[in-house]
Amino acid sequence: MSIAKFITFEGVDGAGKSTHLAWFAETLRQRGMDVLVTREPGGTPLGERLREILLNQPMHAETEVLLMFAARLEHIEQVIKPALQRGTWVVSDRFSDASFAYQGGGRGVPLEKLEQLERWVHADLQPDLTLLFDIPVEVARQRLSNNTSLDRFEQEQSSFFEKVRQAYLARCKKHPQRFALIDASQPPDKVKVDLEKVVTSL
Ligand code: TYD
Repeated sequence: MSIAKFITFEGVDGAGKSTHLAWFAETLRQRGMDVLVTREPGGTPLGERLREILLNQPMHAETEVLLMFAARLEHIEQVIKPALQRGTWVVSDRFSDASFAYQGGGRGVPLEKLEQLERWVHADLQPDLTLLFDIPVEVARQRLSNNTSLDRFEQEQSSFFEKVRQAYLARCKKHPQRFALIDASQPPDKVKVDLEKVVTSL
């Protein structure tokens, strides 16, 4: 029996990761894995209530970080660790790299504060694999423009997303063994071919 893995999907809003995540999880299931799909912020009843606040209520950047990590702690303890322990693979739509990218890169919260929270909340847990859907900001913006109800993050300017993108790429560079960089500007079928390779490597 394979040891269950923890896999996270990351990228700027509009990169298309959510669509690919559903397909990726289904592919793992077809190969016989028991798979749990979850998301951040969210993934627990408390986390989903915090998500509602985080996505809609203006707040100080560091309040935002603290609430993200509060939701995350609950998610890890209630959902992620129990699943991995019973042999279920966990695929999460976002995790801590999003805090480094959005709150760190986008909002300018100091890296050292984020690292402190990361150590506090999950010193003993990191994703086995993180798929980073990278895309030029203008292309991502174009995709979002069809969307009628944009949340507090999606309403940010291109300059914010440029900083988010660069912070993601910096994380990827810092942890090359954990990250797989996916070119999300390709047509969906090409992205699937890349994901298929990732599944095979697992
Ligand atoms: P997202 O994952 O894009 O969901 P949807 O596809 O339903 O819009 O929305 C979550 C938003 O939360 C996204 O804009 C990024 C933001 N976010 C952070 O800023 N920091 C974090 O730590 C996490 C997990 C998400």
